Amino acid sequence: MVTPSETENSEPIERRSFLGVVSGLIGAGISAVLGVTIGRFAIAPAFSSSGEQPWTDLGPLEEIAEGKLVKKNVVVTQDAGWGKFQTQRSVWIVRKGENVTIFSGVCPHLGCAVNIKADKFICACHGSEWDEGGKTLAGPSPRGLDSLEHKVEENKLKVRYQDFKQGISSKEVLS
Ligand code: FES
Repeated sequence: MVTPSETENSEPIERRSFLGVVSGLIGAGISAVLGVTIGRFAIAPAFSSSGEQPWTDLGPLEEIAEGKLVKKNVVVTQDAGWGKFQTQRSVWIVRKGENVTIFSGVCPHLGCAVNIKADKFICACHGSEWDEGGKTLAGPSPRGLDSLEHKVEENKLKVRYQDFKQGISSKEVLS
């Protein structure tokens, strides 16, 4: 049989444990977000592209659509300290006739992936935006998009991929 005092006491205990679970979940969520952000920033140098990257073939120049923001993937060699391995990175190509600009697909703020929305580049992590020339329009990115060295050889567009330091206003190669 349940006495009146037991009924009165059980409700606050349930509410307390519910609030405990909710605050625990909120704490875990905040820790996860901070962990991902700080982790990306801290370990990014260990996963930078290794040494001078070779030229990567992006295909015939005339196959790159004009006036559009075209995404291509390149394979780069990375040095993680304990060994080298290959990974895939994205680059963005803007072509106007023979004029070509190629941007790294890595956000200069904290290294999230750059994407597109309509005719501009965006980073969904913290809301940075750039125009098609790579100039910063909005958000916390400390500089414009990082352009990459490229050339056209035998009508093939080629790029030399590089990683750059994040979170600073100047474009500096990560070595
Ligand atoms: S990582 Fe892109 S805006 Fe912060």
